[in-house]
Amino acid sequence: MAKWDPSTSPAFQPPHWMQIQFADQKQEFNKRLTKTGRHSLSRSLSHSSTDSYSSAASYTDSSEDEMSPRDRQQRSSKGHQDFCIKNIKQANFGRREIEIAEQEMPALMALRKRSGGEKPLVGAKVVGCTHITAQTAVLMETLSALGAQCRWAACNIYSTQNAVAAALAEGGFSVFAWKGESEDDFWWCIDRCVSLEAWQPNMILDDGGDLTHWIFKKYPNMFKMIKGIVEESVTGVHRLYQLSKAGRLCIPAINVNDSITKQKFDNLYCCRESILDGLKRSTDVMFGGKQVVVCGYGEVGKGCSAALKAMGSVVYVTEVDPICALQACMDGFRLVKLNEVIRQVDLVITCTGNKNVVAREYLDRMKNGCIVCNMGHSNTEIDVVSLRTPELTWEKVRSQVDHVIWPDDKRIILLAEGRLLNLSCSTVPTFVLSITATTQALALIELYNAPEGRYKPDVYLLPKKMDEFVASLHLPTFDAHLTELTDEQGKYLGLSKTGPFKPNYYRY
Ligand SMILES: NC(=O)c1ccc[n+]([C@@H]2O[C@H](COP(=O)([O-])OP(=O)(O)OC[C@H]3O[C@@H](n4cnc5c(N)ncnc54)[C@H](O)[C@@H]3O)[C@@H](O)[C@H]2O)c1
Repeated sequence: MAKWDPSTSPAFQPPHWMQIQFADQKQEFNKRLTKTGRHSLSRSLSHSSTDSYSSAASYTDSSEDEMSPRDRQQRSSKGHQDFCIKNIKQANFGRREIEIAEQEMPALMALRKRSGGEKPLVGAKVVGCTHITAQTAVLMETLSALGAQCRWAACNIYSTQNAVAAALAEGGFSVFAWKGESEDDFWWCIDRCVSLEAWQPNMILDDGGDLTHWIFKKYPNMFKMIKGIVEESVTGVHRLYQLSKAGRLCIPAINVNDSITKQKFDNLYCCRESILDGLKRSTDVMFGGKQVVVCGYGEVGKGCSAALKAMGSVVYVTEVDPICALQACMDGFRLVKLNEVIRQVDLVITCTGNKNVVAREYLDRMKNGCIVCNMGHSNTEIDVVSLRTPELTWEKVRSQVDHVIWPDDKRIILLAEGRLLNLSCSTVPTFVLSITATTQALALIELYNAPEGRYKPDVYLLPKKMDEFVASLHLPTFDAHLTELTDEQGKYLGLSKTGPFKPNYYRY
């Protein structure tokens, strides 16, 4: 795998419009706040987050709802027809969702402004496969403002916000996605994005690797025209490294998943906030005084533990890695084995990325009313399959909430059937997605504009300077004042005053 090495790789130099201008951005942000008002901003955000769930019911048109979008002629009010979504009539609702997201995505909005007349993505034809949400819409509209043409499909059959897809289609984007696609629809939508004679993509933005895989399988010749792949997910990145190892990756790719601005923010801060949201929305649980065990003290575990501790819960942690275990101890958590606390805890949260962490023997010993949920990627951390036995009764209480009842009437509360709690039961904070989306946008700009030979067919990490740039674009939101190195200090540390400020091996 090729690692970015500042000593041998050409240093990333942000074009002049990317230069950091804190004063400007702060003013911009404050202007937006004044326009909506601080109070209304926070209100509209919480409204938005519930809307994403309640919206389907209020926006749907029942007659059209029954027919598959694939069987319907679709047309926007301006005559655009190259899209396939649930219902174009939802466009106005979707536009409002996008406008709310824009308020929490300052860096993308700054990129649009900053580029002025300069369009670093002119000529770029980006085919994307990501969650189609208001935040993705802000990304797509930013790419378009920077000169790119975009065609998009969803990377998940359930996550599309239909109203947002409608707003994008109404705005002239070619979007092929709706909530509740079948497996066949899923691949059909991806195919519709790429199988066009008149429009050949030259950049890929993928989340999960399915789009890349489809092009490899069906249209391998297309790679002759494609300059690069930007991949966001652990799974997709894993596939790219496998292709690279096998010598089958024929174009460069940027692994966004492992960039600092994704990993250290999405995993930690996103989970720190959304764990509480997911639990509250699904169970209305009171956190104060509750005994909680968090399995795994990596980034996600650290976020969950910190949030629950702050709410007054008594938090225990389990770990297999002595380093993370020591971190948990130093952060003030009791490090235990699961069997030591399983009878007394009110809440069990898995965050390990591992399997069978909460096996049936633990589920048997939990106390009545214990809540069990997972924040890790895979649904194998809790052995849910072992609960599908005749002696146990399953009772659906709410969407994503099941009571599993033992013969002696003991019941546990299982959330989202052991799938990711925050993505299943709540939404994730827009600001964190802004950081990831900005990283994606910059990765596309870098790959698209890179001179011949800068990137070979291999998987690269984002240059650190770009990571720093993404972070700097988000600082004005907090009215943060960054200290500048003096010439003397820069010399002393051997650093340029404009970064990068850390070596690649620095762990943050
Ligand atoms: N819910 C979300 O929004 C979200 C966001 C980012 C990542 N994730 C997922 O969450 C999982 C964890 O991510 P991370 O960044 O914290 O990973 P990480 O590798 O930093 O942390 C996982 C920790 O679990 C520990 N562990 C492994 N097996 C264990 C076991 N049997 N018992 C106790 N501890 C064990 C590991 O030693 C490690 O410290 C991954 O699956 C990741 O894909 C979820």
